[in-house]
Amino acid sequence: MKIDYQPIEWLGNRVRILDQTKLPQKETYLVTDDYRKVAGAIKELKVRGAPAIGIAGAYGVVLGALKIKAASREEFLKQVQKVSDAIASTRPTARNLFFALERMQKASAKGKNPEEIKKALVTEAQKIHKEEADATKHLSELGAGLMKKGWTILTHCNTGPLATSGYGTALGVIIATHKQGKKVQVLADETRPLLQGARLTAWELKKAGVPVTLITDSMAGHFMRSGKVDCVITGADRIAANGDTANKIGTYPLAVVAKENRIPFYIAAPVSTIDMKIKSGARIPIEERGADEVLRFNGQLLVLDGINAANPAFDVTPNRYITAIITDKGIIKPPYLEGIKKLI
Ligand code: MRU
Repeated sequence: MKIDYQPIEWLGNRVRILDQTKLPQKETYLVTDDYRKVAGAIKELKVRGAPAIGIAGAYGVVLGALKIKAASREEFLKQVQKVSDAIASTRPTARNLFFALERMQKASAKGKNPEEIKKALVTEAQKIHKEEADATKHLSELGAGLMKKGWTILTHCNTGPLATSGYGTALGVIIATHKQGKKVQVLADETRPLLQGARLTAWELKKAGVPVTLITDSMAGHFMRSGKVDCVITGADRIAANGDTANKIGTYPLAVVAKENRIPFYIAAPVSTIDMKIKSGARIPIEERGADEVLRFNGQLLVLDGINAANPAFDVTPNRYITAIITDKGIIKPPYLEGIKKLI
């Protein structure tokens, strides 16, 4: 697939990030050599989606490291760790961020002196970027094998090239299916409160030439019950060792209604999203974001002043609702504990 937009680009000594908070109205970029700006961009969702957060985080570590002036290797590594900690504190749920930071830490430990470590970090970040992009291409092609001709596919949030700096996860599967000429169409949830489905998924599908109809999140059950949905597919931010999956808030009710109506519910994610250290979904950290994202629209207050709002950014879907998990290393079917262990 030819993509005419790049969510993250490494420019040698700076990084260029497409500001997703401004899409689809404006295509503007943040170009920076300051890791704090990268951390800010992750926190503010200028760059978002689990794999893209990991890639941006890795480049953030590089930017921080390139500016460190330390007399010894030990002092240098200490300061790199501080940069990494600052980036790690931006968003807690997406496993890919920590996967990337752990790889960057391992790469830095191998260098003999600051100059060698800087070089190793640049190489590792670019490697993570390429490997994650390749993984999404592979899982998209694998997942397309599960999709049937003429299907209407329901999806949630945004999981395309924007969210992965690659091919996409759930949206990658949909686009790959479309490319195979299977004439699928998509029902895209708008995804309250930040409208990643309406602003980003609809934009990416239109660019890819896939027919898309936008629905509000609360319409999904109606469409499933009326027989208008053939399958549901979403991405993942963290998958526990038993297959329980954290994804954008609103995914769990989709999975429950899909099961009730005997509609297959698929998760698509690279293996870098799987967290073998977390045994079940109950242990996945759920990011709580500011109430203003719910209370305001385009900066304007929607409710009476003083009203409270809750804003958990993710929910956890128990493994029993998931028909299969599509990864770059293969498609996993229940029982997930055994399937995931075998694959990893
Ligand atoms: O809060 P966001 O926009 O980063 O949430 C993104 C999602 O929940 C995606 O579904 C997820 O990262 C899937 S992986 C492409």
